[in-house]
Amino acid sequence: MPFSMEVLIFSFLPFVLAVILLKTYISSSKSHKRLPPSPPKLPLIGNLHQLGSSPHRTLQVMAQTYGPLMLIHLGTVPILIASSVGAAREILKTHDVTFASRPKLNIPSRISYASKDIAFSPYGEYWRHVKSIAVLHLLSNKRVQSYRYVREEEMSLMMEKIRRDGKLVVNLSELLVSLTNNVVCRVSLGKRYDGRNFKNLLERTMTVLGSFSVGSYIPSLRWVDKLSGLEKKVDEFVKEFDEFLEGVIIEHEQKKEVGAQGPDLVDILLEIQRDNLTGFSIERDTIKAIVMDLFSAGTDTTFTSLQWAICELLRHPQAMKEMQQEALKIGQGRSMIVEDDLEKMPYLKAVLKETLRLHTPNPLLVPRESTQDVKLLGYDIPSGTQVFINAWAIARDPSVWEAPEEFRPERFLNKPIDYKGFHFEFLPFGAGRRGCPGIQFAMTVNELVLANLVYKFDLSLMGEDELDMSETFGITVHKKSPILVSTTPRS
Ligand code: HEM
Repeated sequence: MPFSMEVLIFSFLPFVLAVILLKTYISSSKSHKRLPPSPPKLPLIGNLHQLGSSPHRTLQVMAQTYGPLMLIHLGTVPILIASSVGAAREILKTHDVTFASRPKLNIPSRISYASKDIAFSPYGEYWRHVKSIAVLHLLSNKRVQSYRYVREEEMSLMMEKIRRDGKLVVNLSELLVSLTNNVVCRVSLGKRYDGRNFKNLLERTMTVLGSFSVGSYIPSLRWVDKLSGLEKKVDEFVKEFDEFLEGVIIEHEQKKEVGAQGPDLVDILLEIQRDNLTGFSIERDTIKAIVMDLFSAGTDTTFTSLQWAICELLRHPQAMKEMQQEALKIGQGRSMIVEDDLEKMPYLKAVLKETLRLHTPNPLLVPRESTQDVKLLGYDIPSGTQVFINAWAIARDPSVWEAPEEFRPERFLNKPIDYKGFHFEFLPFGAGRRGCPGIQFAMTVNELVLANLVYKFDLSLMGEDELDMSETFGITVHKKSPILVSTTPRS
């Protein structure tokens, strides 16, 4: 057949028409997707300018207008915000696997050796391995119990220091930071690192982690992070922490045998690596990334919840009295309350729960990311959507909690509700596959320290009639100013 233009056009026409129809169908079905309601946004920055210094509070207010599932935009990145028990349950239980990944965020990813840690690694085989190392080997109940002597020693040393300072102003916040750092250092690295350099490094961990990276949300403006010095700051920090961890690992490798007190967590990680105990080879960077997690996820959160608990007790003398009575009854004149006593102290546990409810240390938990399209409460959520659960707002939802703004530990007495991820109205440690593996580690320290503090001392405020409860901004929300108290030993 002779070649002609008409033949060419007619033979391709059906194909071209089919492509056009398909494209029209795809884009119309896309536009028929029912996305959750969104507040109006500005070009490029989206809703960033609206978040303010307490995003959990701003998002709580926004949810009153846009509902329990809303889609905001941080820069150009759409973020799903869940603000009700039902929405949290759908995400963390019904569709747990779909939402079990984490977004790749610029700073956390660099700090965690390209997400080789537990908290920031994407969902998949690698994460399953490192999480199971944490759950089975590092943070199991048995392992946490084996470090009881560390907690009791550190707690006694802190009490002794307070007793020595007597009526003088005691900066409780500083003491609590030191205590949690010492416990985490001794348990994971085998000894205290309480020099100024190390403290400074730890402080920078949280500052760097909490820094806002423009490039993570507006990729076209990534150069701003360079220009602002953020990238350099992160690089310097990563290098310094890596040198520190390398030194710790070499020291552990050169040790002839583990100390009489038993192995620390680095010993255990090296043993797992050497003996291939998990059937999966662990690189040196994985060990470093996991240790980094223990510090970044474990110290700040633990100390901040203790700090808020003390603040609430100082503001609520009746609750303080109740706790002291419980402690006196259990302590019976002994020199200290020990860990075996804690199970018999329901009021102490209720005080800590109520503190975690009102002052959820990570109010928006740790961001999740969906790995497939899913329907949630009637809305279409595309794969790759970032999710924040506003656990702080859910824990203050008046349709779930009576007088939610009030500090009432009694609400937890004789109620089965706890923080292990089964009660979606109370999620300080998250829930589901990505839930926190450090609950027992954190809560044993918190219970022991709080019980002994009120057992051994009367605390009163110094220099202020009313406690300043202002919060800082960051992944973990702290009290802005330190707690200054005078202490009187109890007879
Ligand atoms: C009061 C203290 C603590 C609080 C409030 C807390 C809170 C949280 C939250 C909200 C998450 C994210 C959960 C989710 O996505 O559903 C998390 C994850 C995590 N936490 Fe904790 N945490 C605390 C203490 C600890 C401690 C002491 C450790 C370890 C020593 C630890 C290690 C981790 C790790 C490794 C993850 C990542 C889990 C994963 O992504 O699979 N946390 N924590």
